[in-house]
This record gives sequence, C-alpha cells and structure tokens, in this order.
Amino acid sequence: MRAPERLEPYTVDESGLGHLPIDAVALVESREEIELVLRLAREHRLVVTPRGAGTGMTGGALAARGGLVLSTERMIRIREIDEDDLVAVVEPGVVTGVLADEAEARGLFYPPDPASLALSTIGGNVAENAGGPRAFRYGVTRVQMGGEVLRVGRRTPKGVTGYDVTAALVGSEGTFAVTTEVVLRLLPRPAAAVAMLAVFADVLVAGRAVSAILKRGAQPRALELLDRTTIEHLRGHTPARLPVGAGALLLVEIDGDPDGLEAQALRLADACVQEGAIDVVVAQSERERRDLWETRRRANPLLKHAHRHKIPEDVVVPRSKIPALLAEVDTIAAEERVAMATYGHAGDGNLHINLLVDEPLDEDAALRTRVDAAMGRIMRATLDLGGTLAGEHGVGLLKMKYLPWEQSPPLLRVQRELKRLFDPDDLLNPGKIVPAP
Ligand code: MLT
Ligand code: ZN
Repeated sequence: MRAPERLEPYTVDESGLGHLPIDAVALVESREEIELVLRLAREHRLVVTPRGAGTGMTGGALAARGGLVLSTERMIRIREIDEDDLVAVVEPGVVTGVLADEAEARGLFYPPDPASLALSTIGGNVAENAGGPRAFRYGVTRVQMGGEVLRVGRRTPKGVTGYDVTAALVGSEGTFAVTTEVVLRLLPRPAAAVAMLAVFADVLVAGRAVSAILKRGAQPRALELLDRTTIEHLRGHTPARLPVGAGALLLVEIDGDPDGLEAQALRLADACVQEGAIDVVVAQSERERRDLWETRRRANPLLKHAHRHKIPEDVVVPRSKIPALLAEVDTIAAEERVAMATYGHAGDGNLHINLLVDEPLDEDAALRTRVDAAMGRIMRATLDLGGTLAGEHGVGLLKMKYLPWEQSPPLLRVQRELKRLFDPDDLLNPGKIVPAP
C-alpha cells in the first residue's frame, strides 16, 4: 500500500527518533509472499525494512534508507503447540501475550515478557532478542528459526550440528533475514507465583540490596528496580497503590510449588529487610500480583507521555556494580542538568536510564550538546564498570555510534562480513547496528 496517511504508522517506533519516511508497505500473509517480496526487491534493488509491531526502542524497525517496509503483522497463526515436546510453532506476527495466554491455557508457560507484550510480536522479539522481567530467571528470547531458504536450529532440546547460525540470526534486528516461522521452547506452567514490593528510602541501598539478596540464595524469577522519579510518574496512574515517600522499590517475584512458596516468600522478605528495605508489601491475591506487573509495565508509556523527549537507555553492568552506576548517573544528571528516571531489570544488571527533556531538542543546540554528553557519559561509565551497552533493546540506530566504544575493530569487521554474507547487496534493513568503518 502507498497512501501517505496509511504509511504514517510504519514510519515511527518507540525509540523517540521520530518519523523516517518510507515509500510503501507490503502487508505479507505467508512465507511465499515474503519470498516474493524479497525476490522482487533484490531484482529491483529496493531497500526492505522488516517490521513487527513497531514497539522497538532503538529504531530497529525504522527505515533508515526509506524504501519498502515488509510488515509481518498479518501472519498471526499459532501453527502448533506441542504439549508433549513442549514447543510452539508460530508465525512472526503472533502477539507475544497471545502466545503466552494460549500456552497458559494448556498448563504451559512462555516466559519472555517484554513490557510491550500486549502489542509486540514474536517476529520482533526474535529480531531484537527481547527480554523483560522474567528474563532474569528464564533468559531472553531464544528460538529455532525456519524459512524456505534457511532452516536453522532444531526442534530437539539438544543438538550441536554445525555452527550456531540461529544465535547469529536472533537479535540481528532484521538485517540478516526475515523470519517466516519460529519454533519456541515452552515450559510447564509454574503452579504459583508470589510478588512483593520492597520499599527503600534510598536508591543506592536498593541497588546494593540486589546482589546481596541473591547472594543469600534467593532465586526470584524477576527482580526489578524503580527509582524515585519513576515511582512519582507512576503514582496515581496505575492499578497498584505505591508507597508514599519511597526512594526506590524492588519488585520481586518468585514462582514454584505452592507448598514451599510461602516459606520462600518469607525468607525473601526477610532478606530484603536485612539488606535495608524499610518495608515489604506482599501481593495478597493473584489480582494484586497482576496489578503490580501492570504498574511496572506502565513505566515507559507514562514517562513518555509526561515529557517531550524520553531517550531510553538499556545498559547492563555486573550486578555488584549497580550502586556505582546509579551514583554515576546522579552525578551525570546534576552536572549535565538533564533529568533522568531509572528502572529496569536489576536482577540482570540491566537498567533503563531514561533522559527526560521537556524543551524541543532540535531548537536548542546547547541542550542537545548536554543531552548527548549525558548519554555518552552513561555509556562510558557502563563500559568502565565492565558492562555492555544494550541488554534487550538492540542497537538499531540509537546505539550504533556507541558500538565501537564497546567492540574492537576486528569484531566489528567480522560482523560487517557476516552482514555481507547474509545480504550481499545491503538491501535488508541497511544502515543499522554496525557503523560503516
Ligand atoms: C521495559 O522494561 O519497560 C521495556 O524494556 C521498555 C522500556 O525501556 O521502558
Ligand atoms: Zn526492559
């Protein structure tokens, strides 16, 4: 389709990078149609940007060089849920939360839970290697992937044939291939889950508590941190009531057999108090537990709504370095005079540090310089602490210029060569991830 008003939704994502113009969208409905589009694109040397739901945070689905957007939003069939071998076979447009619900209805569990799970699709999750709170226990999106041209991976739990091409494809942000079908591993559904909010007066104490709690032997399936600014943006706009005066919150969830769970919850609450929590509030019902997670998921949309610009970071540091990073973020925010809100998957050391700006960035060069300096300093601090620049949002356009800060020239070269191998004409989502030398 080419009508300008219908193209508009495909020119933007959640990165805050604005609208990047495109020429047309192909709404494919089958693998054959994907193959046809890619064949024609190659013949006519037309740039193609694959797209799921457009919920990505770094510009992976934005058409950096215009051309055609190939949207898999209509490929929504769950082809198979195999309850014996615990796998699901799905088309790329299946919404993550829909698959999770289908699995749950059968007593199974699809763990990845990106905050956008009500909108984002499996194809996009695979492209970006999406995570979410439960990634802490269950890992980020990992799949076996197929297509007519390439069918990689396997359906069995084990297998070592050849190189791990699947690993190269997952997280390649639509720059190597377009997913036509995905085989996902499922788990038996945990019998019960308990969530609690540990309240801290100070974010540094909360940050220190993260590794201390885990060192005591707690094994939560999610361990999230929210700082004071985030809490204040959420307050009054979410189903869960948030404690007044909290300097930081840890949202912790455990799962397992109901018999042992209560004792485990008590031990966990006790550990939080020992590590400095001033209060621990345990969700008293499934409804309260779900409300807590819905509250957490609103962090991104509410902060975005409240500010003209919300520039999201997705850095990861070793857990023990979280307090050092939080302290550095405070210093950077004060020195560069840029407001920040931090929340995220602290159990993984993965924090979303969001730069909040209320004035128009493109009209104020001095402000732009300060914001860029703040971003750069967060990246440097992360690397100095032994961390990495993206935990689950990918590199896309937003983080591209920082990749050489983290990765050596030979490693960047290998990745450019991989790209050439998969896409010799540089037609598939070009201008992303690895910057030109
Ligand atoms: C989240 O954790 O809420 C998502 O990754 C999106 C975000 O960065 O806010
Ligand atoms: Zn996240």
